[in-house]
Amino acid sequence: MSRDKDRLIIFDTTLRDGEQSPGASMTKEEKVRIAKALERMRVDVIEAGFPAASKGDFESVEAVARQVKDSVVCGLARAREDDISRAGEALKPANAGRIHTFIATSPIHMKMKLQLEPDEVLEQAVWAVKYARQFCDNVEFSPEDAGRSEPDFLCRVLEAVIDAGASTVNIPDTVGYNVPDQFGDLIRYLRERVPNADKAVFSVHCHNDLGLAVANSLAAVRAGARQVECTVNGLGERAGNASLEEIVMAVRTRQDFFDCDTHINAQEIVPTSRLVANITGFSVQPNKAIVGANAFAHESGIHQDGVLKSRETYEIMRAEDVGWKTNRMVLGKHSGRNAFRTRLQELGTVFESEEQLNEAFVRFKELADKKHEIFDDDLQALVTEANLAL
Ligand code: KIV
Ligand code: ZN
Repeated sequence: MSRDKDRLIIFDTTLRDGEQSPGASMTKEEKVRIAKALERMRVDVIEAGFPAASKGDFESVEAVARQVKDSVVCGLARAREDDISRAGEALKPANAGRIHTFIATSPIHMKMKLQLEPDEVLEQAVWAVKYARQFCDNVEFSPEDAGRSEPDFLCRVLEAVIDAGASTVNIPDTVGYNVPDQFGDLIRYLRERVPNADKAVFSVHCHNDLGLAVANSLAAVRAGARQVECTVNGLGERAGNASLEEIVMAVRTRQDFFDCDTHINAQEIVPTSRLVANITGFSVQPNKAIVGANAFAHESGIHQDGVLKSRETYEIMRAEDVGWKTNRMVLGKHSGRNAFRTRLQELGTVFESEEQLNEAFVRFKELADKKHEIFDDDLQALVTEANLAL
């Protein structure tokens, strides 16, 4: 995988962290379908699961590794011998595999969860990376809860795991505690202070507990991170992970600001979002950026009039570029005469006079006060009842 400074690597963890959303577990066949969709979208790395978690997860990672050819397939493993060897085993059929191993580095996790001293954690991290390298050349290391870890300890750990052979070091904000300036500063600090930083790709993995996962990830990109871990529709533990579609389109729409781009085929974004929503049963909120039903819908008269004159007045991206058929004019009580007339013209209704149009528009507003949205059938009924048009 290229290490260009203007290339942002997309690491999708829908099948691993996304599946950790309570109620979102998927069968092997469902995971393979999603993995194929991610491959079509040109995701660089697909984290297919956690092979040591269960027999089912092992088999899913193995099946994805067998069927995906163009993306790197990754398996997660704690920094333990049995986890790492299970991941190595599951990834055997992969064209290009990656083992992602992790251990927590925050004071609270080391003390309360692992009951290990910092030096013991460092030693285990180094051992895990070296052991993973026996199965696979491509090894990623994550200091779990990095967002609450002591930065100088993180520097020591990162330097040691890069020396041990990790080619990607991932900085997780595991509990979504960070805010953008702080997280960006942390990434900048680590990149400057770790002496061998340029030998590894810096990655970030942000959770959305404060609704800041995407903002934190983008702040990290500004600070030089060149891999972002994310999920389709922002699925994931608790409030979810950074959402893939938002990261990809933020960077693409504002390349002037980020100085990098992904290789994602954005036209596959909406179909993949639908597939994930259908399989998991987690529907997408209508006002969700990029993939929500209203993301490219205009209701107010002022906006509709502007968009009918030039789409760029109220659209910063084209609906077609992310996989929608088109943008959408929604007729409701805020809509204006221009959108009303345009929609009726599209439906083949032409008014004889401006007076007739005005009369129909008054009736439309009366109806719109009673209904959330006016559909084509409502419009046709309205015109027919009033016997207004040709
Ligand atoms: O949130 C987290 O810290 C993780 C790690 C396993 C990377 O998911
Ligand atoms: Zn996570």
